[in-house]
Amino acid sequence: METVNVAVMGHGVVGSGVVEVLLSHEKSIAKKVKNEINVKYILDLRDFPGLDYSDRFIKDFDLILKDDSIKVVVEVMGGVHPAYEFVKACLEAGKSVCTSNKELVAAHGAELLKIAGEKNVNFLFEASVGGGIPVLRPIAQCLSANDLYEVFGILNGTTNFILTKMIKENMAFDDALALAQQLGYAEKNPSADVDGHDACRKICILAALCFGKHVYPEQVRTEGITKITLADVEYADIAGYVIKLIGHSKLLEDGKITADVYPALIPKSNQLAGVDDVFNAVMVRGDAVGDVLFYGRGAGKLPTASAVVADVMDCVKHLSARKYLSWDDGFDGYVVDSESVKTRLYVRAEVDDIIDAKSNVFASISDAEFIINPDNNNEVAFITPVGVEAELKEKIASVKQLKNVSVLHVLD
Ligand code: HSE
Repeated sequence: METVNVAVMGHGVVGSGVVEVLLSHEKSIAKKVKNEINVKYILDLRDFPGLDYSDRFIKDFDLILKDDSIKVVVEVMGGVHPAYEFVKACLEAGKSVCTSNKELVAAHGAELLKIAGEKNVNFLFEASVGGGIPVLRPIAQCLSANDLYEVFGILNGTTNFILTKMIKENMAFDDALALAQQLGYAEKNPSADVDGHDACRKICILAALCFGKHVYPEQVRTEGITKITLADVEYADIAGYVIKLIGHSKLLEDGKITADVYPALIPKSNQLAGVDDVFNAVMVRGDAVGDVLFYGRGAGKLPTASAVVADVMDCVKHLSARKYLSWDDGFDGYVVDSESVKTRLYVRAEVDDIIDAKSNVFASISDAEFIINPDNNNEVAFITPVGVEAELKEKIASVKQLKNVSVLHVLD
């Protein structure tokens, strides 16, 4: 049996998990890939004394780049820089790269896949979406016979964990976030989670894979969960919905797409409504297969490491054969303004007189479905009929007497 040397760049939550899984599963992995995988270097600027493998740490990236025995490099540093420069250099040097870095893939995926293609090496990133859930490889491989037309889901473990704790245990937002950080779910800057940027990067990757063109994070309308109140949660519950942070992308008839991240009301009967805690779920719709749902742990050290290590194993098994992942460059205007697309909206607003307010709502939106909360006489909440989003918003704005209006999407 031959030995394949790999390097791991980054020894944070995911990187330490990758090393742990590679070392603890050394024998079974070797049996499966018919090669021994040796973690030769671990790149990190910090010191990690007292570990069984402390002697493998290095601080100089060039040692990896110039070592021809390193065939596969794992990038789990996070962030775009210097991850982008390091990954590009590795691919150009003929090394395969596996990464969990969704920020990197969402920003530079098309370019890095192209370089990998030219160099006949692999650039794999299964862990970048859905943590431990196998979703990218099945989309690219098992569903490839389909014309895919819609992909959406719960793509961020931290926010799903926070919403679940708030809804089911009445835990305060900050306490739930602190717990998510402690459990290793949250990004270094948790604003990336709670403001929706992490889910945005993931829907970019999913949309690129499903519809064939790169989608840049700037093209995705992105809203996080910080404005969700317990009052919204309560109204949603009365109306038969739960609130989840959703990433959503749809192919339109003209070949362009929509791409959004928003908190949405999901009917309790929908499978996504039961996806709680750190779990993620991704629904993919294809013309031949119909609906396919992927479900599992979307964040955390070992679930994410599970996906990264499987990519490493795939690279080792295909050292001189490229895998199937690729998509084209995107372009300005590829992602349309979602306000031009039909949807339903949930609206909650403060009012002085609830009877007057309701008749004002009826005057502008005759088919509005009111949500009755007998405990609250100073607010109205209702769900609009289906309409073009911009037109619905205009009608909502024209209703007299509504104050501090909050609007959420309804995903039926
Ligand atoms: N912070 C991310 C999440 C990590 O909570 O989903 C996994 O990508």
